[in-house]
Amino acid sequence: MTYIAGSYTTKFGELWERDLRSLGIEAIEGALKDANIELKDIDALYVANMAASRLSGQDHIGSLIASELGIDVPAYHIESACASGGVAVRLGHLDILSGESKNILVLGVEKMTDISNSGVTAALSGASDEEWEAFYGATFPSLYAMIAREHMRKFGTTREQLALCSVKNHAFGSKNPHAQFPFEITTEQVLDASPVADPLGLLDCSPISDGASAIVLSKEKKSDVKIISSAQAQDTISLHKRNDITELTATVKAANKAFHSAGLNRNNIDIVELHDCFSIAEILAYEDLGFAKKGEGGKLIESGKTGPGGSLPVNTSGGLKACGHPVGATGVKQIAELASQLSGSAGARQISKNLKYGLAHNVGGSGGTAVVHILAKVG
Ligand code: COA
Repeated sequence: MTYIAGSYTTKFGELWERDLRSLGIEAIEGALKDANIELKDIDALYVANMAASRLSGQDHIGSLIASELGIDVPAYHIESACASGGVAVRLGHLDILSGESKNILVLGVEKMTDISNSGVTAALSGASDEEWEAFYGATFPSLYAMIAREHMRKFGTTREQLALCSVKNHAFGSKNPHAQFPFEITTEQVLDASPVADPLGLLDCSPISDGASAIVLSKEKKSDVKIISSAQAQDTISLHKRNDITELTATVKAANKAFHSAGLNRNNIDIVELHDCFSIAEILAYEDLGFAKKGEGGKLIESGKTGPGGSLPVNTSGGLKACGHPVGATGVKQIAELASQLSGSAGARQISKNLKYGLAHNVGGSGGTAVVHILAKVG
């Protein structure tokens, strides 16, 4: 059994005065304090980071953070693009289940704003197929824009439905002091924002962010929240090799596996943190995770069910859109947010004190990797 003993997320945003290591150490110290566990009791360190090599000239991130902490436990660097955080949590969980470790630190950290946005875009494009996508100038906004166009053509999904995802995530994010954009926006603002890759505009896109999030995983019951299933699946890295680009098949496979191993169905889930890197990604995730029928994700966002006051709140942290998306940190932050909500310690953004099951969904690239975790509150 793996318990989320503690967690901590730094402020996300353009943090000019911070560097990779100071963000990482702040998150780790906060998580250890929250877990009431000492550094000497940690058996392994997993560090999720996608692009420090290109963005900060820093490789060997496991060693960097371990040496800053002054510990000599095994330290691993996990890279799986924007799914690095979810994969790191999963590997830490498997390490505990294997019996090798009792307490594990999982850190997700990314420092993105020290170079120009075009430099960051080029670095992020490293998560696509370099030969067949990035080489021809296809960026992630443009890849997701193609998915959006096809979803609109095939299912009649509207521009307004896409916009509602961003409006909803900002409504939640407005209550999160750690969020990069802690304010509400309107549908009109989303529709009127500068175009990025048609049909996606500025306010359909997750931003470029700095930030870190850490959790402590424990074999012993040090909290009321545990991981009850963890699943990962892969798909082709490039869109053109897929039969249907309106589905992220890796998400479908990971979700089915996670629900099967947890012995739960979709109606059991009380709260979700999902991967809304672009507004269309949230619509796809509704369908691929099984919360809406194929083609009906747009209707689900319109229904209000996933928004404030709805019966299936999605992205109470503000999601990638409003909370920010320091790519390596995102998957860890999702677990931290669910742990706070399930344990009733989410403060102003606490949805309810009666939450039992939460689902986290983290995607790498345009769906080459997907990770799904289900967390439960135990008595
Ligand atoms: N939401 C709300 N406001 C945003 C924003 C967003 N997503 N992105 C930028 N802004 C704001 C900035 O704070 C800034 O405001 P200011 O002028 O008051 O300081 C303004 O809009 C312009 O920001 P800037 O960073 O110059 O925009 P940009 O045009 O260079 O970049 C994007 C905007 C959307 C292209 C960029 O954030 C991006 O590429 N996002 C996607 C990242 C990505 O692909 N991640 C991986 C996903 S798989």
